[in-house]
Amino acid sequence: MSTAINPADTPVLVRRADYRQPDYLVPQVFLRFDLDPDRTVVYSRAVYERRSDVDAAPLVLDGEDLELLSIRLDGEALAPADYVLEPRRLTLVHPPARFELEIEVAIAPAANRKLSGLYASGTMLLTQCEAQGFRRMTWWQDRPDVMSRYRVELRADPGRFPVLLSNGNLVSSEIVDGHGVAVWDDPFVKPSYLFALVAGRLEVHEEQWQTTSGKPRLLQIWVEPGNLDKTGHAMLSLKHSMAWDEARFGLELDLERFMIVAVGDFNMGAMENKGLNIFNAKYLFANPRIATDDDFARIESIVGHEYFHNWTGNRVTCRDWFQLTLKEGLTVFRDQEFSADRLAADLGQGQGADASAGARAAASARAVHRIETVRALRATQFAEDAGPMAHPIRPDSYQAIDNFYTATVYEKGSEVIRMLQTLVGRDGFRRGMDLYFERHDGQAVTCDDFVAAIADANQRDLGQFLGWYATPGTPLVQASGQHDPATGQYTLTLRQLNPRATAAAGGQAPAPVTIPVDTALFDPAGRRLAQQMLVLEAESQQFRFDGIAVAPVPSLLRGFSAPVLLQYDYSAEELAFLLAHDDDPFNRWEAGQRLMVAAIQARLAGADTAASLEDAVVAALKWAFADAGVDAGLRNQLLLLPSEGAISESLAIVEPLALRETRRALRNKVALGLADHLLPLVAGEHWRKPYDLAVATMGPRALANTALGLACAAGLDGAAAAAQAQFAGSNNMTDRQASLVALMLADPGRREAALAAFANEYRNDPSVMDKWFLLQATMHRLPGDPPVLDRVRHLELHPAFSLTNPNKVRSLIHAFCNGNLPEFHRADGEGYRWWRQHVVAFDRTNPHLAARLARALDRLAKFAEPQRSLMREALADARREVASADVIEVLDRALAASA
Ligand code: TRP
Ligand code: ZN
Repeated sequence: MSTAINPADTPVLVRRADYRQPDYLVPQVFLRFDLDPDRTVVYSRAVYERRSDVDAAPLVLDGEDLELLSIRLDGEALAPADYVLEPRRLTLVHPPARFELEIEVAIAPAANRKLSGLYASGTMLLTQCEAQGFRRMTWWQDRPDVMSRYRVELRADPGRFPVLLSNGNLVSSEIVDGHGVAVWDDPFVKPSYLFALVAGRLEVHEEQWQTTSGKPRLLQIWVEPGNLDKTGHAMLSLKHSMAWDEARFGLELDLERFMIVAVGDFNMGAMENKGLNIFNAKYLFANPRIATDDDFARIESIVGHEYFHNWTGNRVTCRDWFQLTLKEGLTVFRDQEFSADRLAADLGQGQGADASAGARAAASARAVHRIETVRALRATQFAEDAGPMAHPIRPDSYQAIDNFYTATVYEKGSEVIRMLQTLVGRDGFRRGMDLYFERHDGQAVTCDDFVAAIADANQRDLGQFLGWYATPGTPLVQASGQHDPATGQYTLTLRQLNPRATAAAGGQAPAPVTIPVDTALFDPAGRRLAQQMLVLEAESQQFRFDGIAVAPVPSLLRGFSAPVLLQYDYSAEELAFLLAHDDDPFNRWEAGQRLMVAAIQARLAGADTAASLEDAVVAALKWAFADAGVDAGLRNQLLLLPSEGAISESLAIVEPLALRETRRALRNKVALGLADHLLPLVAGEHWRKPYDLAVATMGPRALANTALGLACAAGLDGAAAAAQAQFAGSNNMTDRQASLVALMLADPGRREAALAAFANEYRNDPSVMDKWFLLQATMHRLPGDPPVLDRVRHLELHPAFSLTNPNKVRSLIHAFCNGNLPEFHRADGEGYRWWRQHVVAFDRTNPHLAARLARALDRLAKFAEPQRSLMREALADARREVASADVIEVLDRALAASA
């Protein structure tokens, strides 16, 4: 039979409005894989049933890079006239209403560089099917609303691939005529994107679990040999996830066994395939030697995330890819809640008789988690929503769906779910979730179905709330207050606008959305006078507070109750006041950040208020150090300056070098001003204490390490020597990495010695070498240093680096382009030319990865000349040389915005 050739992508715009139900459903499928890295033969047998309300209709199947070997309908080879074979489409012209279709194809996993479909990583073969990888293994209606029961037979050389895994339950595993043969059966219907198989020489860490209702479950983590000592934390995280979903949402694991597999080459963090989660090893492996406190926390949340998908994503899935946030926003929300509850639970225990101290500590830990979430949201999602790739959490169109696994769909999507919970309350949200599963278990549904379940379970009209799903851009909330001493009334006026969405709609402002604004008022003595969840629904609204004798200071958007930009004309005094007196720890931090941004803006603008604002920052932070009510975790957050990226978002035009210098100057001022507090922390040598992951030890550790970095950067007495001692003497990665970071800020000699020692010690630990690459890619130059790009180019030749491993590419190349503002955005354009070469090279091998790198020039409109013209030129040059739909979509959007 013929061989499909694979031409360059011809990008087509797919529109949400064009959705049509599939004409044919496929209740069951049998798949057989004869696995071989060079040539794998895939046999599929499936029953197709035309929907009863459809008369005659062709059947259109998706396929990519497939060599068709045979195709049979009800046992008969198809005649050439019965079907049309195109490179990415196979059409049965007039099939019967019900028939069995058998297809045999050959594929080449070892040559598959896209890491989509069946591919090789290390010594393993594995699949990645979301979003459209299944079509790279057989001809199929590769869309999430086609749900089937899968039975899978895997055959392979038992010497090379003794372990054969797929979704569901293991039916049999035997050696037949020298072949390993395993049969798996998944009792739940699923869309093709949740299919997975893994073949390899693997070792397993397994444990037992019993669900609340008493069902025994087998939990397995499969790894390549030599890695079992890094699976303990992931296993513990899995059990915590299971317990949490049972307790908070009444959701149990529905399969007898739940497997996780770690792989070295993976395009994303992890994948929730039914019963067979596949993880990027970097987001699974941990022990104190190789993982930092942040890594441990990240792994717990990703293990939770993929596990929680079993209900939010798998049991109830998406009707089409425009609904992606239905599963991703909701599941990110669930993993964030899980992480926050875990921190609080850690502190709830062991507090003895002093329950209120425990509750305060738990509230603070939750706030620190919230701060970290919001920091990331602002740095990535707000930037995305202000740039050429801005889209609603439910996009209206795409060229390459892989481009829409974005901060908007995930992180803003989670904020939207959080607002729903805020509006109906925690119990109301649980009722809504229960109703959602009652109505839609086993179905592929839409975001409207989800919101309807929340609304119906709470007898609430959420029609206006749906605007959050349809509008791009970050809403702006402008607040102003008016106090009338005569009547004791305080009136708060809130107004919403969305300039980005308005521009996108050709000047037409979008309909107002529902915005919960948690608000409190404080009197000048710091007493809370009022607290209320205000719900802004109109374009402009007034809220009145009675019995307010003196003019209060408002604390707005507490806990970041909505993903908006809040404008309120705070004076420096008011911000310092809130930092000192607000009883919402999140808004204490927020006040500090606002003060810092104001100081940097003033300095950049050459305003004469700059010095006094800088002094105000230092004074406010001193106050926080003197306040016993601020614990170490929160103090640490208060000390951390907003990132260059976050500051950029508040500037109309970014001058990369000036921004770095100004931020550096403020950081050093903070270090000098707080030296009396920082130096004792440094001298305390916290790293000599035993290492553990209790929140009560992680907070002080984080604070001491931040102090060390500040002290080294500002050249405080003894700081560099202390960092050196910590680097040499500590045995956990948190303290080792922190001391390396500090030494990199101290002086070039210490920096190079420490980097060399670090590489030597961890050269066989890929995830630690990722850190080593990333720290250098994002490093700030010290006096006398050559440009960082010189170093990055050199590092590309390092034996531990690899252009085919996404983790390495992200640690070095992406990190440099997105995390080293003045070094990448050089005035001579060399950074951009180097960027273009890589985008063009990855476009041919791994378009998903290439498109993410392509986005590094997204914010072109923020830059002045010469950068702006140089960026436009680099975009245009790249555009002429690329072929994948993924990269073309990103470049075209950036170019259109720059025109
Ligand atoms: N669904 C995955 C998640 O949990 C995302 C994902 C994993 C993915 N691998 C992918 C998306 C490859 C696109 C392509 O978030
Ligand atoms: Zn997910």
